[in-house]
Amino acid sequence: MIAMKDAKRYTVTAALPYANGPLHIGHLAGAYLPADIYARYLRLIGKDVVFICGSDEHGAPITIRAKQEGVSPQQIVDKYHAQMKHSFEKVGISFDIFHRTSSDIHHETAQEFFLELYNKGVFVEQETEQFYDEEFKQFLADRYVKGTCPKCSYPEAYGDQCESCGSTLNALDLIHPISVLSGKKPKLRKTKHWYLPLDKDQEWLKEWINNGMYKGKIHHDPKEWKKNVMGQVGSWLNDGLQARAITRDLEWGVSVPPQIPGAENKKLYVWLDAPIGYISATKQLALDGKIANWEQYWKDDDTALIHFIGKDNIVFHTIIFPSILNAKGGFNLPVNVPGNEFMNLEGDKISTSRNWAIWAHEFVDEHPEKIDEFRYVLCANIPETKDSEFTWVDFQTRVNSELVAAYGNFVNRIMVLNHKYFDGVVPPSSSEYKNISDDAMLVVKDARENIAGLIEQYKFRDALDALMLVARDANKFLTTYEPWKSIKSDEKEAKAVLHACTQIVANLGVLSQPFMPQAAAKVFDMLNIEASAWSDAGGLNLIPSGHQLGNPQLLFEKIDGDFVAAQREKLKLTKSQQTDKKYAPVKDEIQFDDFAKMDIRIGTIIEAKKVKKADRLLEIVVDLGFEKRTVISGIAEYFNAEDIIGKQVQVLVNLASRKMRGIESQGMILFAEDLEGKLHFVSPPHDLENGSEVA
Ligand code: MF3
Ligand code: ZN
Repeated sequence: MIAMKDAKRYTVTAALPYANGPLHIGHLAGAYLPADIYARYLRLIGKDVVFICGSDEHGAPITIRAKQEGVSPQQIVDKYHAQMKHSFEKVGISFDIFHRTSSDIHHETAQEFFLELYNKGVFVEQETEQFYDEEFKQFLADRYVKGTCPKCSYPEAYGDQCESCGSTLNALDLIHPISVLSGKKPKLRKTKHWYLPLDKDQEWLKEWINNGMYKGKIHHDPKEWKKNVMGQVGSWLNDGLQARAITRDLEWGVSVPPQIPGAENKKLYVWLDAPIGYISATKQLALDGKIANWEQYWKDDDTALIHFIGKDNIVFHTIIFPSILNAKGGFNLPVNVPGNEFMNLEGDKISTSRNWAIWAHEFVDEHPEKIDEFRYVLCANIPETKDSEFTWVDFQTRVNSELVAAYGNFVNRIMVLNHKYFDGVVPPSSSEYKNISDDAMLVVKDARENIAGLIEQYKFRDALDALMLVARDANKFLTTYEPWKSIKSDEKEAKAVLHACTQIVANLGVLSQPFMPQAAAKVFDMLNIEASAWSDAGGLNLIPSGHQLGNPQLLFEKIDGDFVAAQREKLKLTKSQQTDKKYAPVKDEIQFDDFAKMDIRIGTIIEAKKVKKADRLLEIVVDLGFEKRTVISGIAEYFNAEDIIGKQVQVLVNLASRKMRGIESQGMILFAEDLEGKLHFVSPPHDLENGSEVA
């Protein structure tokens, strides 16, 4: 395989998302949207392409999620597989297949890979010590161990990765490790695993990555690879590759083939099985009759394999999976691995566990009419070279001043003018007005090749800019020639202008297809044509004179301030209603008698003031009906003294009194603490007589 352009066939993959949670904008902008634009483009230029994805249904995060929700791992993956599939369809991600790694064909394929490599003697067996949870009687995957990060001291680091500093970790390196399952300190226990000796691949991998040479032949041009990707692989290679365990002691996953001695209870490491999922998905495509032969897409010399991924996946797609493919033999290595950085949201890292995200399924269900606006703004912010940022204000600005003002407005004016002056019949051009067609030609001439070239270099943001340049130049063209004036003085000229503009509209439709397929379809619908060919773009002969146009339709809708405010409000709310709520653990069991000992009464706060030299304390007097009591409460950071006078509250009245800051506190006022740690009075639903009992 040499130049990408010469490939006859393309196998385009997008990282298999974990089926342990919903998709968000970071996933879409980081991998799926660029892959989709690329695949759509290849189809438009007539290439044979399979666009492969599916859900990654193994791995510890899935079993952890299942435990949290009290359901089986299968139920978790079924739920999220269906949800992700729905989201992808609605966003218009045009996978040829969205497969699953829990399928039989995948398990068979992954086991076949493992067995063959095992039989070839590729793996090394090694006994090591690993954390074991004695209460749950199981070895702990790195994800199942939490502790203090040895690099940055973050106390909640996972055994495989610290989410605070981003370091890749080994559970054994954690300071104060605890088991996520039992919350206890895990013990070390011996276990045996198979390792992939990547150190032996170091040399050929270096040659392949740095020089694009594989088995003595030119494989690809390393200059075509993105800098951020080369940088990361380069540092892995410089550090020196080490053997990696590729099996785990787990219950959920692809079993190590049972014919291998010692295979009991061992599963393939999820990162071994997942990329093989690309292959099993292609096999399924063939079984479904969508392609004739899966092997062509993985083994033929004239097929180009391209992996679209996010930056956390780089090592797996440039080192580990290539090493597996190389060991298996006969398979193509990727000619490119366009990896992106991450997208942030409104100034903060996107986080599933903190629920800081715009969820794909919510957006598509709530705003099905704004899909292309969504794609447009995500594409404009693909984190191609560095982390990017999504904000709702940017969404509004881009939709209003770019899509609506430049693109939508031009298309709409041309449609309306054609209907107003010519009953929607495309007027003729005129050889007398060569300047008009020359100027119109300038608007479209280079656009197709520019866009194509940029897409081929994975510069999707620039490609989108090149598309919008056509819309902007089109508007300039229109305001230069003002057909609404010439229609009165020189109808021929007005006709020539609108003829040319109609061709520009068709160009916009054609060139938008990879980015905004729905808008493109609407343009064609307005023009009353089937899609024009990609190769026609860049010219002015897309729609013949005399052609009857369809009716104008609204392409893009303006985003108003209320929409932005509502979206931002929703984000704030999701932040406060985290899905992964940190509920306080339930306390040890007590008997009824223990409970009955407490005497809780309704009282009314009649006085309150700050305790001197104590920031947090309020001195409160409560009227309990039978007597008045003074209570010291550590709530000054939540309430102003003057605001709480008159409030009815619940008071534990038989609590032994104690002195705080020299004041005797005679009881305790009860509060509810919400999940953000804010305090709220537990007041009766309506006024009660002071002294009423709570039981
Ligand atoms: N599930 C992984 C993630 O979301 C990606 C797997 S990509 C594959 O990070 F190549 F392994 F399939
Ligand atoms: Zn850290």
